Amino acid sequence: MKTEKEVLVKLENVTRYFRMGDQKIHALNRVNLEIERGEFILVLGPSGSGKTTLLNQIGGIDKPNEGKVIVGGKDISRLSDNELTKYRAKTIGWVFQFFNLVPSLNAWENVALSLELSGDTKDMEKRSKEILARVGLKEKVDLFPPQMSGGEQQRVALCRALIKSPLLIIADEPTGNLDHKTGLEIVNLMKELNREEGTTFVVVSHDESLKAVADRVLHLVDGQIVDDHKHSPKAVGVS
Ligand SMILES: Nc1ncnc2c1ncn2[C@@H]1O[C@H](COP(=O)(O)OP(=O)(O)OP(=O)(O)O)[C@@H](O)[C@H]1O
Ligand SMILES: [Mg+2]
Repeated sequence: MKTEKEVLVKLENVTRYFRMGDQKIHALNRVNLEIERGEFILVLGPSGSGKTTLLNQIGGIDKPNEGKVIVGGKDISRLSDNELTKYRAKTIGWVFQFFNLVPSLNAWENVALSLELSGDTKDMEKRSKEILARVGLKEKVDLFPPQMSGGEQQRVALCRALIKSPLLIIADEPTGNLDHKTGLEIVNLMKELNREEGTTFVVVSHDESLKAVADRVLHLVDGQIVDDHKHSPKAVGVS
């Protein structure tokens, strides 16, 4: 149950530009945004509108030229490289379009690697297998990524992000490499985990049909949030 509003992420006037010769290309232009604990946010926008740049700011992969990114009350642009590495390993769970699993590790070992990197090594095998069972992969824990379908690999990637109980999960086009039906299954699974575990999600997509699953939809155009809508989500039918 949601009680008081708790702001997990706050972007204050965040600007990120890249220099191309004597021109400045603005990937993000004075973005202000608050993300509350437990939200499921979908970020839509055309190619080049700044979606990945926005995720990279929140995830501590990149720093703004101007403005502040505050996560869990901390201004992450002030963290040292060491602290940033810890932040990325512990606080944020990433899910990517191309899954990014380690091909030489099986499913549970891929999940366990995330625990190892965050220094939480107790009962890694047991916990990794349990979480894989939670997403319907009980029978597949010993398979290697090339032996799994795209949808199964994305479930493993989701477990890898989830198992460290991150403050939030960031997903950049998680359905972009899956057929429509499998993509919807993955997003519905994310929504289920959001509802049941209270995990906060920020999901980037080109697919407008995912709107129905989200609590909140942001539209980015030319590095600016031009629309920010909250609504009551529902599961999208997978037929
Ligand atoms: N490292 C970089 N160097 C130069 N320009 C960059 C860099 N990263 C991003 N940009 C530019 O910033 C803008 C936003 O890029 P970004 O990758 O955030 O877009 P996107 O919305 O994620 O697009 P897509 O849907 O194609 O993934 C683009 O014009 C891009 O060329
Ligand atoms: Mg992108």
